[in-house]
Parts: sequence; C-alpha cells; structure tokens
Amino acid sequence: MAKIIPVESFDCVVFGATGDLTLRKLLPALYYRCRDGQVPQDARIIGAARSDLDDNAFRDRAVAALKDHVDKKDLDTDVVRQFVERLHYVRIDATAAKSDWSTLKALLDPKRVRVFYLATAPDLYGPICRNLGANRLVTEHSRVVLEKPIGHDLESARSIIHQVGEIFSEAQTFRIDHFLGKETVQNLMALRFANTIFERLWSSDVIDHVQITVAETVGLEGRAGYYDRSGAMRDMVQNHLLQLLCLIAMEPPVSLDADRVRDEKLKVLRALRPMEPHEVSTLTVRGQYAQGAIEGKPVGSYQTDLGHEDPSGTETFVALKAEVRTWRWANVPFYLRTGKRLPQKVSEIVIQFRAQPFSIFPADAADWQPNRLIVRLQPEEGMRLEMMTKDPGPGGLRLSQTGLDIRFEKAFGMRFPDAYERLLMDTVRGNPTLFMRHDEVEAAWAWVEPILDAWASRPDHPRPYPAGSWGPTAAIALIERDGRTWHEDLG
Ligand code: BG6
Repeated sequence: MAKIIPVESFDCVVFGATGDLTLRKLLPALYYRCRDGQVPQDARIIGAARSDLDDNAFRDRAVAALKDHVDKKDLDTDVVRQFVERLHYVRIDATAAKSDWSTLKALLDPKRVRVFYLATAPDLYGPICRNLGANRLVTEHSRVVLEKPIGHDLESARSIIHQVGEIFSEAQTFRIDHFLGKETVQNLMALRFANTIFERLWSSDVIDHVQITVAETVGLEGRAGYYDRSGAMRDMVQNHLLQLLCLIAMEPPVSLDADRVRDEKLKVLRALRPMEPHEVSTLTVRGQYAQGAIEGKPVGSYQTDLGHEDPSGTETFVALKAEVRTWRWANVPFYLRTGKRLPQKVSEIVIQFRAQPFSIFPADAADWQPNRLIVRLQPEEGMRLEMMTKDPGPGGLRLSQTGLDIRFEKAFGMRFPDAYERLLMDTVRGNPTLFMRHDEVEAAWAWVEPILDAWASRPDHPRPYPAGSWGPTAAIALIERDGRTWHEDLG
C-alpha cells in the first residue's frame, strides 16, 4: 500500500454545506482522510450556507451523514469525535455582497492553504467568487474548487470561466470531474504508459472500436430540479464520458506535469469530429425511462419521479457514436452510452481488437471472439484481457475464450478510496493534474452543443425505455448497424 503522506494544514470552506454533495460525498471523503492520518488535527473544515445553524448543529448533521454514507466498520467513535472538532459553520448568503463575510474571514488563518469548495449550482460560481474577492478573502495560497457541470452550454461555461478567472488564476482553479479521481481511471494512464505491450497495439491497425458504458440503476435521487434542466448529455457525457474517451485516445504526454497531460486530452477533444445537424439522429440516441423493474422491484417512470404532469423532454439515456480524427484513430468508432435506471450499476471501457485476419484452425473449433480488453471502473475495479485458448484434454482441438483477470481490490487487499478523497487532497497539495483546464471544458461543450441544439430543434421527445432495460432499442441498432454489439456480459 502506498505510504500516506500528511498534507499541510489548511482551511477548507465549503459553500453549499447543507447540500447533498457535501453530506453524501465531501464529509465522508474528508472523514476517511482524517482517519488515515492525512489531515492534520488543526485543519479546519468550515461549512457555509444560508441555513440557520451553529457549529454544534452542523456537527450533528455531519455525524448523521457519516452514519449514512460511511461503511459501519470504518466508523470509529474517537475518529468521528476528532473529525467533528475540525468542523465549523458560518451562516452566510454567499451571493450577497453584504452578508456576514467578516465572521468567515475572522475564522481563516491568513498563512494557510485556503480551499473554497463551491458545492452549489454553477450559476452561483461567479457571484460567490466576486464576493470572495471583494471581501478580500482570496490570498495567494487560496484555491477554488468548482463542481461540474461548468455551465449548461458553451456560452454560459465561458461566462463562468471568465467571472471566476477575474478573481482566481487558472493555477488556483480546480474544476472537478470526479471520474478522474477514480482509481481505475488513473490506472488507465498506468496501463497505457507504464507498460509496453498495449501502447504498440493502441491504434486503428489493431483496434476495431472502443465502447464506453456508464450505467446506473438510480433515478433522480432527490435531484429532480437539477437533473431535469441538465439531462444525461450535460450531466454525464459532456464531462465524465468525454474525459474517459480522452484518457483512452490521447497521445503519450511528454511528462506527468498537469499541463502536459491536459494538453494531450485537449487535442483529443479538438479532434472529435463535429456532428452535422442532419447526422445527429443517426449518430445519437436519447431516451427517457418509463416504468419498469430493477432487480425484481417495480420502479416508476421519470415523469412520475419528477412529480409533475408537464411532459419533460429531458433525456435520461444517451448513446452515441463518436470519431476521433487522428492518424491513430482513423476509422475506429467510439461508442458511448450512459443512462439512469439501467439494469446494473457498471462503468467500463471495452477495447475491442480486430478479428484475426486468417485462421489456421477449423472454423468449427471455436466460437471465435476477437481479443477484448475490458477496463472495469466500477464495481469490482479491474481489467480483463479476453483471449482464445485451447480447451485442455486429449480430444479434438477446441478453443474457447478465457480471460486474464486483475481485480484490483483483491490484488491489493485494501479499501479503494472514493474519488473525492484523492481530489480533495490534490486541491490542498495544489496539484491540478486530475482537474479540467478551462480549454478542455470549452472544447467539450463545443462538441456537445450542436447535438443538444439538434435535439432541441426536433419536435420528438426522447425514446421511452422500460426502467431496468439497456435503453431504447434504437441504441442497439446504433451499434448493430455497423455490425457490432454492445458488450453485455457484465456479470
Ligand atoms: C455525477 C452525476 O457527476 O456522477 C450523477 O451528476 C451521477 O447524476 C454520478 O449519478 C455518478 O457517479 P458515480 O461515482 O456514482 O459513478
């Protein structure tokens, strides 16, 4: 296990401290880092929100959140007590210039690293940063952390980037895409650039196509307002799926320096072939879940989950075919799909190699399957290389597919930290490698926007799919038209 190096002491102010993200993700992540001795005891985590709470009431909420979101076996009473001692609360309307900024300022140590975590709606990023600047809270050791999505289209993203940029430099701005903090996602870099065997095969000469699937069983989870304005394209594709695509498709960076890595990802985003409006209906499929069943339990439709009658045109499923226009990837389609209320929570990348050009074996010796590398991000993080091997025994020659399997949790025998744990510590350390640079965000919007525009200009709604299915049948047709199939041996 890698040695845990404590970070220097810091003050972390979380705006949106009573919200879902803070309670479900940020506090548990900070708890684990405290438990593992990475966070000094005098570090302070300051919740800031409009609710009328004091330190004790905020600490009570934090303890309740830890009980809900931390594995019971990891909850230690002494560690919890020491953790909540680091918590403070300031009641503030962060969008108002004249709110209680002086109380917040008085709590902060001018010499320490200062992290402002904006766990709020993106349209508040500009106003909050302006107030932080106007009230002189931003020191040279400050950083700001922004959750995705940055804006809802290219123009709003540029406007947020500009407003934040008036107060924080690019080096101080950490735009989170939490998928980049997942262990297996970081392992993609190791797989490609710490091994020689794959990199030489990593091109259209050998690879037939790539599939990226991020499937969830959950529905709206109390986020109806946000989700209905976003949809799967803005919530998942513009950021998480395109970032995964970048890590698969990028050229080797000249070093691990944050900007060198991000330069290479940016080139991939810029190489994505823009979709023409008339192609959008053949190259993309959008769906919306209808009532169905997941793991034998009935679940309602998206419309029922929204709780109102007005029909919503928001997509909860997207499948699409993308092309990366480079020498390496010419004619290698990237099929992406993501959706809510699918049968399984699973995120994986499938690198499908080309079929053998010629076979010396009898055609009936096997159910022939080309090689396939499957990178599983969750659950059971790992990688599997599927290959043909001979069935043992002296009978006739039979071949079948076997897998070389690495399950990381088993291999390393340790808990896999949540993505937010690493990312929060990286903000304190000031390491932006796993965060999105402004030009990446803009390039991703530039590619996604024509698709959103084409959808918006059409009178038809997303195609319904029963909850618990793999999305609309058109998503299957999207890939089968090319003589390929989605990888669904997801067990
Ligand atoms: C978030 C999306 O960014 O990622 C959610 O807003 C989604 O809609 C979540 O459920 C998925 O993350 P994870 O880590 O659970 O796969």
